[in-house]
Amino acid sequence: MEMRRLLVLFALLSVTAVVPVFFWPDNKGGASDVVVVVAAPPFNASSVTIISWKPRIFLYKGFLSDDECDHLVKLGKEKLKRSMVADNESGKSVMSEVRTSSGMFLDKQQDPVVSGIEERIAAWTLLPEENAENIQILRYENGQKYDPHFDYFQDKVNQLQGGHRYATVLTYLSTVEKGGETVFPNAEGWESQPKDDSFSDCAKKGLAGNESDNVDYAVKAVKGDSVLFFNLQADGTPDPLSLHGSCPVIEGEKWSAPKWIHVRSYDNASNLKQSEGCSDLSENCAAWAASGECDNNPVYMIGTEDAPGQCQKSCNACSM
Ligand SMILES: *[C@@H]1O[C@H](CO)[C@@H](O)[C@H](O)[C@H]1NC(C)=O
Ligand SMILES: *[C@@H]1O[C@H](CO)[C@@H](O)[C@H](O)[C@H]1NC(C)=O
Ligand SMILES: *[C@@H]1O[C@H](CO)[C@@H](O)[C@H](O)[C@H]1NC(C)=O
Ligand SMILES: *[C@@H]1O[C@H](CO)[C@@H](O)[C@H](O)[C@H]1NC(C)=O
Repeated sequence: MEMRRLLVLFALLSVTAVVPVFFWPDNKGGASDVVVVVAAPPFNASSVTIISWKPRIFLYKGFLSDDECDHLVKLGKEKLKRSMVADNESGKSVMSEVRTSSGMFLDKQQDPVVSGIEERIAAWTLLPEENAENIQILRYENGQKYDPHFDYFQDKVNQLQGGHRYATVLTYLSTVEKGGETVFPNAEGWESQPKDDSFSDCAKKGLAGNESDNVDYAVKAVKGDSVLFFNLQADGTPDPLSLHGSCPVIEGEKWSAPKWIHVRSYDNASNLKQSEGCSDLSENCAAWAASGECDNNPVYMIGTEDAPGQCQKSCNACSM
């Protein structure tokens, strides 16, 4: 390694104790490049704001550092790029647009930065990492919105692996200039939220677009901030107040990283109660498989013997 790079590392290490440093191998076979990703400070409960108790919503300003956000976006972009190329090769360019916006899942502990973030999420939520799905990276293009929905499942099949999605940690990886707010149309456990012109009309009027009904709590997409909300009530039953959606992006690009945490282990295959040895866990499996996701997203789709993926049946991976 060059002396100059070493000096940069030592200079950084001497000013702060919270700089994890790792060596990012240059996969083109060249000399290793040094990438320094400065982490946000460790979990600190003082950084958490209570937004609502019905449903339970919490905001953590600066949960991730700018470096960590950039790093996750970079990892997401690499996967998005790969799947577009594969799509092009099979001639399904239309599907690639759909997949570009549907997001990609990182591997668990993919690198030291991802591991650190997973640990910080577990520290915040007090929920074990093994209950969590892989971090997803989403890109919202201009005009794209997500209609209000619940993160808990309406069907039984999706609950086979780890049970309901108990909590959602939604981290913004970019600051959206206008639009892209996360709104909670049913939330009723908050006092007041003055909304100036920096909020989009969608956030002001609510996703239902009812001007006389300014009752949606809206969280702005600010780089590094993270929202934690619980999709189940304390007694484990689904909480309909946890309904949420994303306003259309009007200006800028929105990158976010949701992490869904289940009531039981998501990683441990013993908790996967399959009726016939091998099954799909999502009703979307056939469509995902048809668009090439088995090849492009094998960790999520097929998985391993110890951690089966969502769509083993549709991926013809039942003999594993
Ligand atoms: C947590 O944050 C508070 C408020 O910013 C600060 O006073 C405190 O020192 C922090 N605690 C730790 C352990 O860093
Ligand atoms: C897709 O394939 C066409 C034809 O081979 C090529 O011209 C184009 O550059 C490719 N696009 C991407 C994004 O690779
Ligand atoms: C709009 O909101 C007002 C106040 O909450 C309500 O009375 C009205 O029924 C709503 N209109 C529609 C079309 O939902
Ligand atoms: C997986 O879960 C089963 C049943 O809950 C348990 O007996 C086993 O020890 C777990 N295995 C691991 C590797 O955690």
